[in-house]
Amino acid sequence: MIGIRPACLWLAFAMVISSTAFGASTAFGASPTREELQEYRLPAPPPRAEEAKIELGRMLYFDRRLSGDGTMNCATCHLPGEDGFADGREVSAAYPTNAHFRNTPTTVNAAMRTFLTWDGRAASTTEQALGPIGSPFEMNILLDLLVEKLRSVPIYSKAFSKAFDSDVTKEGIAQALSAFEGLLISGPSPFDLYLDGDDNAMSESALKGLELFFGKGSCVACHDGPQLGGDRFESLGMELNPKLVEYPRRAVSLRYYAKKMGYPLELGREDDHGRYFVTGLEEDKGKFLVPTLRQLERTFPYGHDGRFFTLLEIVDYIAEGGGKAVHRSEELNPLGLTSEEKTHLVDFLLSLTGPDPLVKPPSSLY
Ligand code: HEC
Ligand code: HEC
Repeated sequence: MIGIRPACLWLAFAMVISSTAFGASTAFGASPTREELQEYRLPAPPPRAEEAKIELGRMLYFDRRLSGDGTMNCATCHLPGEDGFADGREVSAAYPTNAHFRNTPTTVNAAMRTFLTWDGRAASTTEQALGPIGSPFEMNILLDLLVEKLRSVPIYSKAFSKAFDSDVTKEGIAQALSAFEGLLISGPSPFDLYLDGDDNAMSESALKGLELFFGKGSCVACHDGPQLGGDRFESLGMELNPKLVEYPRRAVSLRYYAKKMGYPLELGREDDHGRYFVTGLEEDKGKFLVPTLRQLERTFPYGHDGRFFTLLEIVDYIAEGGGKAVHRSEELNPLGLTSEEKTHLVDFLLSLTGPDPLVKPPSSLY
């Protein structure tokens, strides 16, 4: 269950307007104070949608009717429990006989993010919701067919009528899923509790990691704001993942996706170009959304293609200055961190995980 939140504090945090930008050049000094860090507190959850929409969204999230062959629901890849609303896989599960080419992000806190998906092609959970349903390598059902399918199920006709005063529509499906996702907000992490004044919430090592994160490590140059990421696109200089070549089905999905976005790729030759697929700007090749660093304890593996199996692995990679691909950000340089310092950073990252929301699947979908 979500922890108890003092309402006045939440409101106060929600109203704090960021007045300071902590770029690499303006990294904190020795040790940022709690007051300076208040803007990193997880803000108040979004306003709760109407109950009828939430309940309909809950039904849809867990209903396998939303996939072409009736085997997948949203929870197939965004699974409550130990996978933290992700799926613990390197790259996501996919529609049978297809393969995905990207790692599944958690749906926890997605309702509060500025950009969604690794290339930021959606700006809200409503905008995003129909994407996986129609995607041939995700749930793979024609949306018009799904609408007719749900219209034939009396419980859905009733639920849509209650929530939207209408029959089943695509827009209603998206809005209801989004209303349900509005509940998927984490409780305060040890870092949030520390910001609220609890001196014992974080370990000594995590506190040293905090200093490195905002200081010598310059992580905050990219991972900024209350979600420690999620609002800009950068490249770690990651080279072509050999698994794209080894598993041709991944390459097929990638090429299909590129084509759909308007960029046909040569057979088997090209990499996941991330943000470039959305903007078409050469300078965006190889850039991905700087991901949130919240809830990482349960959302391994890491990176857009899950190539890092542990936090230490990716911290190591970044601390060495990233990879060699052409578009690597200029913010990245070898940091000269000791192995102890890397452990402190990992402990800080772990302190950004709060309890996941408790959600109940609907009792019946018939
Ligand atoms: C087959 C696995 C799969 C299924 C099923 C699936 N997703 Fe996803 N989801 C993914 C992957 C992979 C991504 C990242 C895609 C990308 O970056 O291009 C993603 C991204 C998202 C995001 C963006 C999160 C973020 O922070 O960027 C949301 C929200 C989301 N999915 C919600 C849903 C909902 C709602 C459903 C059911 C209608 C659903 N997903 C079904 C695999 C899946
Ligand atoms: C130049 C901007 C930049 C800087 C500086 C930076 N990161 Fe990142 N970080 C990224 C990007 C972009 C990704 C996504 C990489 C990808 O998969 O393409 C990422 C991914 C991560 C991830 C994986 C999260 C996930 O869900 O997969 C972790 C953990 C992380 N960074 C921690 C750090 C730490 C710790 C530091 C400081 C030592 C740091 N980052 C500095 C841009 C940056």
